[in-house]
Amino acid sequence: MPSVDDIRTALARVIDPELRASIVELGMVRSIDAHENGVVDITVSLTTPGCPIRNHFQTSVVKEAKTVEGVTHVNVTFDVLSDTEKQGLQQKLGRSGGLPSGALAQVANVLCIGSGTGGVGKSTLTANLAAALTAEGKKVGVLDADVWGYSLPRMFGLGGQRPPVSATRKILPLEAGGVKVMSIGFFVEEDSAVVWRGPMLHKALTQFLEDVDWGELDYLLVYLPPGTGDVSMTLAQLLPQAQFLITTTPQATAQKVARRAAEMAKKVNLEIGGIVENMSGFVTPDGQRFPIFGEGGGQELADELDVPLFGKIPLTMPLREQADAGVPLVATDPDDPAAQAIRSVARGIIAITPAQPIALQMAPEAPAATLPIVESKPKPKGMSLPMA
Ligand SMILES: Nc1ncnc2c1ncn2[C@@H]1O[C@H](COP(=O)(O)OP(=O)(O)OP(=O)(O)O)[C@@H](O)[C@H]1O
Ligand SMILES: [Mg+2]
Repeated sequence: MPSVDDIRTALARVIDPELRASIVELGMVRSIDAHENGVVDITVSLTTPGCPIRNHFQTSVVKEAKTVEGVTHVNVTFDVLSDTEKQGLQQKLGRSGGLPSGALAQVANVLCIGSGTGGVGKSTLTANLAAALTAEGKKVGVLDADVWGYSLPRMFGLGGQRPPVSATRKILPLEAGGVKVMSIGFFVEEDSAVVWRGPMLHKALTQFLEDVDWGELDYLLVYLPPGTGDVSMTLAQLLPQAQFLITTTPQATAQKVARRAAEMAKKVNLEIGGIVENMSGFVTPDGQRFPIFGEGGGQELADELDVPLFGKIPLTMPLREQADAGVPLVATDPDDPAAQAIRSVARGIIAITPAQPIALQMAPEAPAATLPIVESKPKPKGMSLPMA
């Protein structure tokens, strides 16, 4: 009769592609019954009844169990983890395991876009990268975590609109060119100064991640404001699976500051996905190239951190003009050299990121939309945002 222990050892090689761990380690092997004639009955517990990767488990479980001596036939049946078991699994996965369930359960990749210093083109890159990923057929969301500048609504042409609330009391992101956008800018009077720190900021960002109905996304781009302060720390805590994309100019001094951002990211265990160099030279209409902000900073930083340089984006006037006009250049003129460079960054990112959602496929929790809501009048102002 085949040994149940040997079968269990063999099943440890079956990996849940979403949770990226062995089904044995995850406690998903409910039972193994081995019979005298070499027939083995195995029950696997799934996180949801309609688990999309059921076939993968079926094939892999049979394949691995059959490697055990004496096994002649394998029957696989499925059941579903109880709520308590799911909670146990969530806890087991803990910080290193996945994004929060619920609003982010169907988000495959989170990319935080930041830099050490202001004005290097993070907002421009975020808006255009979102458009470029969309052009590659990906579902994309943008979370503007800049509680001071919030320039993204403008770059997407979404000034003055308020996000609606769904029947389940979730906040719905606004859409521009197929990109779902959420920003603090949607909830405050234009040009009003918002000064948020500590717990209040934490609460606001938590809400943006948990109470916004992001739906199914291949990429959620999170725009980090300049500097290395509160926001990045808070997000790193909320998004343990996120990757950090650092923007820098080719200049040595900018690169030094960007390095500081990298150090901060490492401190809070935010993985650095790669570098994008912006403002990499200007080419005149007759083809003459001027390296206005120097050369080589992006590559140097990438080498130093041992991460990829996803691309070098030249200075072009249309990139700035389109940002001001409220439609990303990538969407209006994909042939512009800056648009081409950003599209190539998008393809590089796609090549190194997984296609599957990484979080547990669980039913969304009880909703709680307490952010300022669209129908409320008069409009909330600056500091009076009812975040608490
Ligand atoms: N490659 C480029 N070519 C031309 N203009 C650019 C380029 N990149 C950015 N800009 C312009 O430079 C200015 C600053 O860019 P942006 O606002 O994207 O930077 P930022 O890093 O988000 O700044 P902040 O730190 O202030 O939020 C904008 O006017 C933008 O249109
Ligand atoms: Mg900005």
